[in-house]
Order: sequence, then structure tokens, then C-alpha cells
Amino acid sequence: MKKLRVGVLASGNGSNLQAIIDASLSGDIDVEVAVVISDVENARALERARKAGVPAIYIAPGPRRTRLSPEAEKEYARALEERDVEIVALAGFMRVLHDDFLCRFNGRIVNIHPSLLPSFPGLDAQRQALEYGVKWTGATVHFVDAGVDRGPIIVQAAVPVLPDDSRDTLAARVLEEEHRIYPLALQYIAEGRVRVEGRRTCIEPAEGPVFGNTDRRGPS
Ligand code: GAR
Repeated sequence: MKKLRVGVLASGNGSNLQAIIDASLSGDIDVEVAVVISDVENARALERARKAGVPAIYIAPGPRRTRLSPEAEKEYARALEERDVEIVALAGFMRVLHDDFLCRFNGRIVNIHPSLLPSFPGLDAQRQALEYGVKWTGATVHFVDAGVDRGPIIVQAAVPVLPDDSRDTLAARVLEEEHRIYPLALQYIAEGRVRVEGRRTCIEPAEGPVFGNTDRRGPS
């Protein structure tokens, strides 16, 4: 099968990026990570990419804290287009993208968020979940639209909140699920199985053998 060319934007540690790279290199998913771009010059994500032989670029974000400057956003788009990226995967990318970029990659940007959206959008979703007192939280892979953590949901996985959880123990358990469902969601897209109808996505049944062991398939 032709590999889906994915460009990953990441600001930090890059453990989700690593899960995607590992699954692509092992052949578990039909994805090629074509480029990794970061807004943080010394991001661990860039190191991880280089180590795996994936082109890794730092592009300065401009002066604002929560978004890219319009010039930077154009540079990001150019770098992705130059490498024929079909899907842009945000993996811990801590800046909001705006209209021009969203239009250029319309319907082709996905994000992972560490909660069961629409609960706890925004920063530090794990702490929000703990402080709210929910018994279950989780992780969500979704398409990106003009809202924050709001587009149609592709895959979710639930994680229990345990009585003695700290923010960090909870985040670590959520992260394990993130590493499972992000490659899975990309594989659904690579197989052309994701249909979007308004806010809802439908995962069409697989034609041939499915990715990995069926036990690893999360709810869709
Ligand atoms: C992940 O938990 C991801 O879901 C979260 O940042 C972390 C990045 O970890 N993203 C957001 O909160 C976006 N709203 P990583 O760099 O190790 O993949």
C-alpha cells in the first residue's frame, strides 16, 4: 500500500511522535513521517526525528506566545508542501493555527489531546480532570478546525482516574493510550476508512487484515 505522507508538528518531548515513528518503521502502519517541524529550537522531538533519519526543522514562531506569526505560518505550510505532506499531525504542538494554514490543509490536520473531548480542552487537561473529580478521563485524536480542541473525533480511549493519582501518574497512564491511538487513527486515515459527516466521523470496515492485533483496536 502507498504510504501516507505525514508531517508532524511538535513543541516538546515528542513521545507521541516517537510512537508514530516506531509504528511506521516497524510496518505496523502505512505511514511515512516526511518531516517534523518544531517551534522550539531544542525540542526533544527534533532530536527523536533526527535519530530516526526523519528531516527535522526548527521554524521560529514569531513574537506571539500562543500562535505563529502569519509569516511563520506560511513558512510552516511551505515546508510541509515541499515534502508533499498529505496529513499534518499535531503532537504536543502548543500553538493555535489560523485561517490561512487551516484552509491550505483543509480537513487534513489531526491533533491528539489528553482528555475525552469535549471535556477539558486547552492546557493541562490532566490537571483539569483531576481537579474536576471525574472518575474517567482519556485521550482523543480529532480533526482540527478553527476551534480549540474541537474538530470531529476520530478515536478516543478511556482511562480511569485512580484515588491516589497525582497529575503526573494520571498523565503517564493517559500518555500510554495516546501512544496506542495516534498511530491507529493515522492508519485508519491511511487506509481511506475515515468518513466525516458534520461533527461525526465514521470508520469504514477494513477490507483486508487490520493493523496489528485486534485487541489493540480502541473504540472508534
Ligand atoms: C501529550 O499529552 C499531548 O496529548 C498534549 O501534549 C503532550 C505532548 O507529549 N497535547 C496537548 O495538550 C494539546 N492540546 P509528547 O510531546 O510527549 O507527545
